[in-house]
Amino acid sequence: MCFIFAVMVFFSFVIFPTNIGMNIDAYSLLFFCMHFLQGNENKVRTMTREKKRVIAVSGCKGGVGKTVVATNLALAMGQLGQRVVLMDGNLDVPGVGFSLGLNTVDTSQSNQRSSEASFSLPCKGLIDGPGGIRVFTPGPEVWSHRRQTTQAVALIQGMDDLSSGLDTLVVDTAPGLAPHNMMLIQAATDVVVVISQEDVSVVDAARQIRLLHQLHHVQQFYVVVNLVSSKRSGARQFEQLQQRLKDDKWIVLNYLGVVPFDKTVSEAAGRQSAAMIINDDCRAARAFHRIAHQLAKIPVPEPKGRIEFFLPDRIKERTES
Ligand SMILES: Nc1ncnc2c1ncn2[C@@H]1O[C@H](COP(=O)(O)OP(=O)(O)OP(=O)(O)O)[C@@H](O)[C@H]1O
Ligand SMILES: [Mg+2]
Repeated sequence: MCFIFAVMVFFSFVIFPTNIGMNIDAYSLLFFCMHFLQGNENKVRTMTREKKRVIAVSGCKGGVGKTVVATNLALAMGQLGQRVVLMDGNLDVPGVGFSLGLNTVDTSQSNQRSSEASFSLPCKGLIDGPGGIRVFTPGPEVWSHRRQTTQAVALIQGMDDLSSGLDTLVVDTAPGLAPHNMMLIQAATDVVVVISQEDVSVVDAARQIRLLHQLHHVQQFYVVVNLVSSKRSGARQFEQLQQRLKDDKWIVLNYLGVVPFDKTVSEAAGRQSAAMIINDDCRAARAFHRIAHQLAKIPVPEPKGRIEFFLPDRIKERTES
């Protein structure tokens, strides 16, 4: 579109400087182009704000970059005009708050009993993070000694308190297949699976995807290949994952692309920050912008009737739209 416009302007002003009619056409085209581009941007904004989205960033293998992807994706979604909360869903070893240098819930201060705390915690644990996002770390009141599915359910339902104050919740999840972890992942509207160039990450991800499908009937998965050296190696890993799941006809894998290995990511980690914060234009940051745009354009799925985040409000949104 912009190329056609550039050619028109060139012909209009350089080749035919006296041709008034053609100049007017160029102006109309300029107006049309700007309107088109602006309209598209607005459309992304409006679409992203239409319905509440919950993105679970998962991936069975440890160290594939779930926390990095969740944090930077939350920041990228924030830049699209969303009110974003980043939740630390790694209930065994929470680390999101620390990785961003935030003073999250002090685990040594609590003496509340888990059953009392599960519904009152969300607002207490919410603190301002960088880039306008907010960060939520569930406290030990919920998790200490008894990390069970029932507590994950209580936490999911307890998050309803936050519903009116956000558009997008990004949940960083733990590695592994523990039932409480699977419960948190399946409660999202969109499951983003992170794999890396290591083949074991593909094997583990296939296992987790299959289990989420069998136990919780999740069908759609979005795949990001992190820490790659080239787009081609990322695509190859995605194909491997497809291959492993080819017999499960109901599972749909959608490829969101790669995040390259980028030393800005490790530099950011050393400064308790995020790549998007220290250099919004580094290679990894550009990938996160692209992934956020892609996700924001996908319509938020309707509630499925499972135990899901923000279910009452999402049902209301559905009946009102
Ligand atoms: N694209 C990248 N480029 C460079 N380094 C990266 C990238 N992604 C992740 N890393 C580094 O890899 C390491 C693991 O990342 P991260 O902690 O996000 O993984 P994880 O999957 O959340 O791990 P865990 O399973 O333990 O929660 C970190 O040191 C991080 O800085
Ligand atoms: Mg992590």
